[in-house]
Amino acid sequence: MDQRVLDDKVAIVTGAGNSKGMGWASCLALASLGARVVATDLERDGVQDQLQALCAEIEALGGRARALTLDVTNPKDVDRVIDDVVGIEGQVDILFNNAGLGAGVGPFLEISDQEWQSVWSVNVMGMVSCARAVIPHMQAIGGGVIINNASLAGLGVVEEMSAYSASKFAVIGLTKSLAAEFGKDGIRCNAVCPGSIQTSMYELEIEHVSKSTGRSRQEVEAELDSLVPLGRSAMAREVADVVAFLASPASGYVSGVALPVAGGMAPGL
Ligand SMILES: NC(=O)c1ccc[n+]([C@@H]2O[C@H](COP(=O)([O-])OP(=O)(O)OC[C@H]3O[C@@H](n4cnc5c(N)ncnc54)[C@H](O)[C@@H]3O)[C@@H](O)[C@H]2O)c1
Repeated sequence: MDQRVLDDKVAIVTGAGNSKGMGWASCLALASLGARVVATDLERDGVQDQLQALCAEIEALGGRARALTLDVTNPKDVDRVIDDVVGIEGQVDILFNNAGLGAGVGPFLEISDQEWQSVWSVNVMGMVSCARAVIPHMQAIGGGVIINNASLAGLGVVEEMSAYSASKFAVIGLTKSLAAEFGKDGIRCNAVCPGSIQTSMYELEIEHVSKSTGRSRQEVEAELDSLVPLGRSAMAREVADVVAFLASPASGYVSGVALPVAGGMAPGL
C-alpha cells in the first residue's frame, strides 16, 4: 500500500489506551499511513497517561496525534468529543469503533441483568452513539469510513459467551445496516472479527479458563492455539493492519462485510 494513502484524513479511535490492545495498534497503523489520529479512552487508572505516551510515540515517528477522554457509554460525551474534533481538525473521515468489554461470559444462567446491560451499553450502544455522532460530519464532506471491532464470537456460536456473543452479533447487524443506509453518502462501514488476539482481554480469558478448569496457562494456550488452523494466536498489530486496509482507498469498494481476522478459525460457521 502507498505509505501516505491517509494523508489529510482524520481518524478517531475509541478504547485506544491499552498498549497491548487493538485500539493502540490501530492508532499506530493509521498514523503510519498519514492519518491525523485522535486516540480516545476512559479517564481511569492512568489510561490518559498511556494515551499521551501513544501520541508521543506517533509524533516521534513523524505522525500527528492527540489524546482525548471519551466514555462511549455517555452519548453527551460522545457528541462533545466529536464536535471538538471537528472544531479543531475541521473534519472526521475515519471512525474505528474499538472500545469493548470482554464481559458477559460464563454460564448463561449466571449472567446478571446488570452484566448484560453493561456489555450492551459499551459493545453496542457505544458504537451506535459514536456512529450517530460522526455520520452527519461524514455526510457533510461527502464520505467516510466506519470500522467496528466485532469478534469471531459475533459470527458463530461460542459456548458460555452468551451476552458477549449477542453484543457482537448486534455489532455485525449494525455494520451491515449502516453500510446499506449510508452507502449513498459515500460512507463505508465494515467490521473486523478478531479471533485469539494477545491483548489484556485474551490474558483474562486464559486466566478464567485456567482457573475454572484447573489447567496451567500453557495448557490452555496450547489448546486454544490448536483450534486455529494457522496454529497460533495473533498480535494486536495483525488486526490493526486489517483496520488500516479497511480505512484506506485500497478497500474503496468494500462495505458491509464482517471480516474474520482469526487465522482460519471459524466456530459455528
Ligand atoms: N482480544 C481478543 O482476543 C478479542 C477478540 C475479538 C474481539 N475483541 C474486541 O476487540 C476490541 C478491543 O479489545 P482488546 O482485546 O484490544 O482489549 P483492550 O482492553 O485493549 O481494549 C478495550 C478498550 O476499551 C476501553 N473501554 C472499555 N469501556 C469503555 C468505555 N465505556 N468507553 C471508552 N472506552 C472503553 C478500555 O479502556 C480498553 O482500552 C473490543 O471491542 C473486543 O471486544 C477482542
